[in-house]
Order: sequence, then C-alpha cells, then structure tokens
Amino acid sequence: MPTFTVDTGAQQYPVLVERGALARLGAFIPPKRGVVFVVSEEGIWRMHGAAVEQALAGRPWRLILFPGGEENKRLAQIEAMAEQMVEGGGDRSSLVIAFGGGVVNDLGGFLAAVFMRGVPVIQAPTTLLAQVDAGVGGKTGANLRAGKNLVGAFHQPLAVITDPGVLATLPEREYRAGLFEVIKHGIIRSEPLFRLMQQRREAVLAREPDVVEQMVAESVRIKCEVVSQDEKESGLRRILNFGHTVGHAIEAETGYSRFLHGEAVGLGMLAALRLSELAGRIPAPLREEMAAVVRAYGPFPSTDGLTVDGLLARLRKDKKAIQGAVHWVLATGIGSTEVTADIAEDLVRHAVASIL
Ligand SMILES: NC(=O)c1ccc[n+]([C@@H]2O[C@H](COP(=O)([O-])OP(=O)(O)OC[C@H]3O[C@@H](n4cnc5c(N)ncnc54)[C@H](O)[C@@H]3O)[C@@H](O)[C@H]2O)c1
Repeated sequence: MPTFTVDTGAQQYPVLVERGALARLGAFIPPKRGVVFVVSEEGIWRMHGAAVEQALAGRPWRLILFPGGEENKRLAQIEAMAEQMVEGGGDRSSLVIAFGGGVVNDLGGFLAAVFMRGVPVIQAPTTLLAQVDAGVGGKTGANLRAGKNLVGAFHQPLAVITDPGVLATLPEREYRAGLFEVIKHGIIRSEPLFRLMQQRREAVLAREPDVVEQMVAESVRIKCEVVSQDEKESGLRRILNFGHTVGHAIEAETGYSRFLHGEAVGLGMLAALRLSELAGRIPAPLREEMAAVVRAYGPFPSTDGLTVDGLLARLRKDKKAIQGAVHWVLATGIGSTEVTADIAEDLVRHAVASIL
C-alpha cells in the first residue's frame, strides 16, 4: 500500500496507509527522542492498544487516557494531560502519539504543539473521518463554550500512520458519517473516487477491505496534495470545506448533539450542490446525479426545528467567514470546484430551504 507525502515547503512528512501499519510505528520515532506519550481514549485502547504497545516495545513510553467525546475536547484536558506528561518524565525531548478519532488527533496534536512550547507528534487516526481528514494536515485544537475549534494551532506531525484495519470495529453510524467526507473528496477532486462511491455502495457499506483501502488511500492522496499547496487555508485548502459551511451551521443550530459531523457535512453538500446549480455552475441532471450518491449513504437525522433564518444567521457568524463574507465552495463538475464570495443571499436561501 502507498505512502503519501505532505510537503509544505517548511516541512515534509509521510502518510502511510496500510493494513497493519501500526506495527511500523516505532520506525517513525527518531532514535534520540525521550519518553513517548501515547494519548488515547479507553475504549479505543482496549480494542487496538496491543498493536501500539508491541510497536513501542523496548522504548520508554507512557499511556495518557482521557474520556474522549466532543464535550471533552477542552483546554482543561490539555492542562491535565500536560501535568501527566511532566509527572511521567516528559521534557523537550518527548514525543506524543495521538491514537484515536478526530477528537484525539485534534487534542493530542494541540497538546504536542504547546507542551514545552512544542514537541513532535505522530498522528495515528482510528476513525474513517480521522483517517481521511482530521489526521492529515496539521490542524489541532480544542473547543470553547462559544464554539468548536476556537483555540488551536497548526502543528504538522512527524508522520501519519493510518491502519484501515482498525475501522472494522467502528460503530455503523460513525463509519457512515466518515463516508460523506470520502464522497466530498470525490466531488471536489476525484471522479474515480466519486464513481467508486456511486458504483460500489454495497461493498463500501460491507467494509470490503480492498474498497475501504481504496477510499482511504485516494482521500489521503487528495488531502496531502491540497495541504501541500496551501497549509494555512489561504487559497486551495478552502475547497476541503465543500458542504462544511452549511454543515457547521446545522451542527451549531442543533447544539452539536443531533448530527455527527460527517452527517451534517452530507446535508451541507446537498445544499452546496443545489447552490451550484442555482448559481449556474452545474446543470440540474448532474446535480441530481451527485446528490443521489450523497443520499445513498444516509439516512440523515431529522431536520425538525431547523429554519432557513436560523441557519442563515449561523452562516454569517461562521469563523471561516472573512469580514462577514462567506466563501462558498461550488461544484463545477465531478472532481472540480470554484470558490466564490459572490453569491446572492436569495440563492443561498433557496439552497438551504431545499434540505429542510
Ligand atoms: N484537524 C482537522 O483537520 C479536522 C478535520 C475534521 C474533523 N476534525 C475534528 O474531528 C472530530 C471528530 O472526529 P471523529 O468523527 O473521529 O470523532 P471521535 O474522535 O469522537 O470518534 C468517534 C467515536 O468513535 C470511537 N472510535 C474511534 N476509533 C474507533 C475504532 N477504531 N473502533 C471503534 N470505535 C472507535 C471513539 O471512541 C468515539 O466514540 C471533531 O472534533 C472535529 O472537529 C478535525
């Protein structure tokens, strides 16, 4: 299986996608590093920790478990874990391995970014969403009461070790939620990936190993390519937000409890596709073809109680709006996009109304 590379100019690192890759974790730790701290959640550790333990045999390492869940992606956990690092002999020579889903990747990465003003991190993502998205690209962070990911840092990892084998234990709903990010990668940048999701639905849902590996590898390839060209999201990286603008608004309006992130992105993509059609970027039949693939991986949680006005108010407050202007990522075909802030509000209203 392939190894991809992120090359931001300042930093270069490998992203390994391979069944059994966790066994090779030790090879990516520089020999002179001191104590290794593995940050994870108890449930994940119970299921898959043995592979990490074996890979670290013979090295000084400690395990730091935290409760996990979006509600624990908070600065208080960073402080508690940093204290545990000091107690465990951590210093500037330490290294963090973030072993878990996106919450662990974000928080473990942030811990590494701030511990002793920065120690290296190796990301080992264990959910589909984290393997195709959160684990790659160096965005780390925590939530504030006021909103998600409002504190954080860019901290590129030394390596990303992706083992698609661990996805076998993922709960069905979490797996499906991750599939929407895979479809997103297809729509924005890869017709072959889009066709895979369109034509191999049953194999995808049955988690057939070869199909899972193709989905993860092609998504990782795209994410590496985009991040390499635009690490800090000043240009190309914005295309990764396809479906996320409305998705974030849905998550916020439902108190982050009804929708999983991927599910909200799925609905957000339906709105973005409608907007692409209304703005004259794609014809109706093509919009329908793409939307059918998104819907095929549902169902979505209920949209009861959501209103166009409520969602529009959230859109204006989105942290990615720049001086109040939302940058829309529109589909211009299968595998191509355009980013524009020049979209009339009544089109947005129609597009949002179409998913409620
Ligand atoms: N940094 C980025 O670029 C980026 C990108 C996208 C999302 N994110 C962040 O990622 C987070 C969401 O990530 P997520 O969807 O992975 O959620 P998550 O980390 O909460 O994991 C979802 C659930 O799956 C469980 N789990 C993890 N791996 C498992 C496995 N192999 N088998 C069985 N269960 C397993 C977890 O314990 C958890 O209950 C959000 O906080 C989001 O902000 C970050």
